[in-house]
Amino acid sequence: MIYAATTERSIAMVLLSIVVVGWAIYVFVNIRRSKSEVGSEIELAPNRGSLPNDEALEGNRLERVQAFGVLMLLIIALALPIYWLREGGRRAGAEQGFGERAAAAGERLAEELECVVCHGADLGGANYAPVVLDIGNQFSDQDNYVVKTTWRAPALDTVFARFDTEAETLDEVDEVRQILNYGRGVMPAWGLPGGGPMTAQEVDNIIAWLWRERISDEEARDRALSAKQTSTAAHPEKTEGQVLFELHCARCHTPRWPARGSTQLPNNGGAVEVVPGPPGSGRYGPALNVVSLERLFPDIEDQISFITLGAADNVAYGEFARLGNYGMPGFGRVLSQEEIRAIAEYERSLDPAEQSTVQFTELHTTKDDK
Ligand code: HEC
Ligand code: HEC
Repeated sequence: MIYAATTERSIAMVLLSIVVVGWAIYVFVNIRRSKSEVGSEIELAPNRGSLPNDEALEGNRLERVQAFGVLMLLIIALALPIYWLREGGRRAGAEQGFGERAAAAGERLAEELECVVCHGADLGGANYAPVVLDIGNQFSDQDNYVVKTTWRAPALDTVFARFDTEAETLDEVDEVRQILNYGRGVMPAWGLPGGGPMTAQEVDNIIAWLWRERISDEEARDRALSAKQTSTAAHPEKTEGQVLFELHCARCHTPRWPARGSTQLPNNGGAVEVVPGPPGSGRYGPALNVVSLERLFPDIEDQISFITLGAADNVAYGEFARLGNYGMPGFGRVLSQEEIRAIAEYERSLDPAEQSTVQFTELHTTKDDK
């Protein structure tokens, strides 16, 4: 067993040594003295010395001893409850201190691993530095096909408004841990289980940091609302459902959406503007259209509640019990039920025939042209 050296321990060791040495000296001196006193008990026996008489013993002195006893009792009676009262605070303080240290360690790690380079310095996903990523697999199913382009990453200060929405403490975080361990879409895995560089402790620290940085639901709702207003003002022709789908869903359900408007640099040369695939035709999340959704959620209310809560790992949803897999976030804390209904209706208006235009066509053409 290992003990850390503390000041208390050092003081206690000194006191202990003094007591032990003191006792040794006392015993030694006593033995020496008793030897020289052989035969002298009668004159010197301590119990024959003068002691106070009965009157003195039962008067003042008794009262003093009793008062002292009551005082000691009071101290014990008060000290224990006071200790008990303070203990909860002490423990909460220790826990809070632990959480703060973990978050600070997570923040240092996040700086090292440059999370903010992709996710935005304010974690709001707006001030991100567009990073050049190889997203060849978003365009072609051929392994040697390399495409570099810039890619928008989602906000990090609202992850807990979408994932682990039921979690009230850090211990209950599960989905975000899974995302960090195994990566997400074009983001690489960070945890050891997914082949990344971070230990379980480091992943926990990152989670504590994300937890500390999370904004309130009200702030998240306000941000979503003003984004909706800006988009609607810029595109009055779009329905509310389409605007909201593009703001919240397209990044996972529409091919190449997060890279829209940037330039793609295929390894076969040339530079082409990135054009997203047909709306809702599927990327990280499955394709969404009138046929698939009417089959999966015959009643639109079930689709609305699925979008509100999101998918839980290994929990079945929809008509043919499809299993969730940490993928689909819940939007109930950020969007109103009316807004979610508008999105659900928009998704149910998408045409599978339009979506089935082969996703990779544009780039295969670019490539073959060369
Ligand atoms: C190379 C750029 C890049 C870096 C660096 C990066 N991420 Fe990501 N991250 C992304 C992208 C892009 C996505 C969305 C996935 C997609 O679009 O395919 C994402 C998704 C996420 C998500 C899921 C959020 C959601 O709403 O879908 C979390 C959580 C996350 N990242 C945390 C982190 C943390 C923590 C770090 C630092 C350890 C980090 N990321 C570093 C690019 C990056
Ligand atoms: C972070 C990526 C991501 C975002 C953002 C996202 N989804 Fe999903 N969605 C998924 C994944 C992945 C699935 C498949 C279920 C799973 O693995 O959890 C899914 C499944 C679904 C399904 C069920 C369809 C099926 O065939 O299984 C619907 C409906 C859906 N999403 C709607 C939405 C809506 C509406 C939004 C926006 C409000 C949205 N999604 C935003 C990733 C996402």
